[in-house]
Formats: sequence, C-alpha cells, structure tokens
Amino acid sequence: MPVPTIEWVGDVDGHIRLIEQTLLPERFDFIECTTPEEIWDAIKQLAVRGAPAIGCAGALGMILGIQNSTATNWDDFSAELAKTADYLASSRPTAVNLFWAIDRMKRVAEENKDLPIPDLQQRLLEEAIGVVEEDKKMCRAIGSHGAELVTDGTRILTHCNAGGLATADYGTALAVMFSAHEQGKKIAVYADETRPLLQGSRLTAWELMQAGIDVTLICDNMAGQVMKEGKIDMVVVGSDRIAANGDAANKIGTYSVSILAKEHGIPFYVAAPSSTFDLSIPDGTHIPIEERASEEITEGFGKRTAPEGVKTYSPAFDVTPHENIAAIITEKGVIERPDTQRIAALLGDGTP
Ligand code: MRU
Repeated sequence: MPVPTIEWVGDVDGHIRLIEQTLLPERFDFIECTTPEEIWDAIKQLAVRGAPAIGCAGALGMILGIQNSTATNWDDFSAELAKTADYLASSRPTAVNLFWAIDRMKRVAEENKDLPIPDLQQRLLEEAIGVVEEDKKMCRAIGSHGAELVTDGTRILTHCNAGGLATADYGTALAVMFSAHEQGKKIAVYADETRPLLQGSRLTAWELMQAGIDVTLICDNMAGQVMKEGKIDMVVVGSDRIAANGDAANKIGTYSVSILAKEHGIPFYVAAPSSTFDLSIPDGTHIPIEERASEEITEGFGKRTAPEGVKTYSPAFDVTPHENIAAIITEKGVIERPDTQRIAALLGDGTP
C-alpha cells in the first residue's frame, strides 16, 4: 500500500489511524480511532477488515483500552485489560488473528506485571506495534515463497481481498501476485467480485490496478465458466482461520471455488501467515462462522434488490476442506497437500 493500512500515531496517549475501506474505490480516506468503541465499530463495519489487519486492529485496540488507566496495581490494571480484550473479541468471530493478537497482548502484560504501570503501558505499545511490523514481514515472505509457484504467463483466480488492505501491508494471496509481478513474470488475474460486500471488485481490482497487474473482474457466478473456457491456471486465496488439519475458512464463496477448481483440475492454494492457524481445533467444523445483517444482501450499498420482509441467511465465511487445497503458502514455507502432520512439521506449536 502507498500508505499504511493501519498504524499507531503517537506515543501511549496516541491513537489508531486506518484506511476507511468501506469508501473504496470511490474515496481514499482515513479514520482515526481514539477509543475501544471506535475500533470495535471499525472492525464490525469492515472499515478495517481481512484477518491479519483485524489482528493488528485488535493489538492496537488493546492500547486504547488501557492508555488512560488510573490503576495503581497489577490487579486493577489486568482487570481493565481483560475488559478491553473481551470487548474487542466480541466484534467479529471468524478471523482467529483477532484472538491471537489479543491473547498475545494479555500474555505480554502478564509476563511484565512487575513493571510500574506507565512502563507496562509502554511495553504493551511496543508489542502492539511489533504485531503490525511482524505482519508486514510475514506478508513479504509469503509473497516470495508463493511466487515460486507462479511461472511466466500464469492466469490466477482469486476471491475476496487478501491484499495489502487485508494485512498491515502487501497481503497474502495478493502478495504472491505482487511478488511474481515484481520478478518480471507476466501474470493475469481474474478477481471474483465477492458478493455481498464486493471486496473483490472494490478492493482487489483496485489494488491490482494500482500495482499495474493485469486484472479482469468477474461476478462470482462466472468462475465456473471462466475455468471451463481454460482461462485459469491456479487459484490463490487468503484465509481467516486454518484448523490443525488444514481446513481453511475464507470469505463465503471460497468453498464453491475450491470445488470448481477440483472439477477442472486447477490447483487451489491458500496463502496465510502462521497467525491465521488455529492449532487448538482439529478441523474446520470447529470454526465459528460469522453471520451478517440481512440488509447487506437485500439493500447492499443503498439499493434495494429484494422484496421487503424476505427471509435471508448470510454466512460471511465458509470452510474449504484440506483435501481441496494443493498447498498452503506461509511465511515459513509451503505446505503441500496440507494435513495435520505436515502442518505440525512446519509450524511446530503454531506461534509466528
Ligand atoms: O469479511 P472480510 O472482508 O474481513 O473477509 C476477508 C477475507 O475473507 C480474506 O480473504 C481473509 O481475511 C484473508 S486476508 C489476508
């Protein structure tokens, strides 16, 4: 991204600045979050979105909860921290990066509980900024591992947005494309529009065009036809949570794309940092799936497209079984034909 997707501005008494993604591509603007309520809303409304970026928002959001602390002892301070943690964790359920980042902040606080409160606040700010900086590095590494799978002339289909906007910088699935492009490989990308909130058309098409990558926008229901016409060589998507066996949750519609890819003999790749793995769950049936408001499908973007009072169901994510995944591209390397053993062999206990 030309500017950070999300960053901390100032010292412990500072605030979060983030790109207001709901305005894109028409307007490029920022919002400044100065309270836990404001960052909670930003996450819920998808002003900041994408699993790794939500993780960054969670880590930085913890600082908003304790920056004005009047606590004079660890017990009172840790109670404030726990309250902020529980509150931020209630914003969105699927992306594990949020819980991973919040837990990391709580753990670091516990490890440093003997520090005077101002020093502890400073230490936590360093940790939160560290989460953002690490994410940038992980995305670059994912890009370079993934680019090895891409040859000159490769045509790639992607779903939703797993780009710089969905991370601290550079993306996961799109990192593979950015990196291959920077290596001089000529690639062409088909971007699924991604109903109902159009992250594919509003964000992915925008990011790829900014980078000078050949991108073609299609509606979600066109993917099968485009594959049948022989226009796709590989699928690369991001993920919001990957279970120990490699089952991977991602934006609703990803599972269907994986089946289409299987039917057409097209390799299907997932690109994600180790902060997206949830090794505490054995498989994808344990991944909580967020359900979104019906207005997002009946009158998305202000235009009514369904009868008043119609029943709706709007799961925001689905789970692609690991059998459909050719490989998971992580910052530590590529896990081919992912399963519990291969994932454990590369990631160990899973901590980045
Ligand atoms: O609802 P969103 O826009 O937060 O969903 C985002 C996705 O599904 C992304 O593909 C995923 O978080 C991976 S981002 C690197």
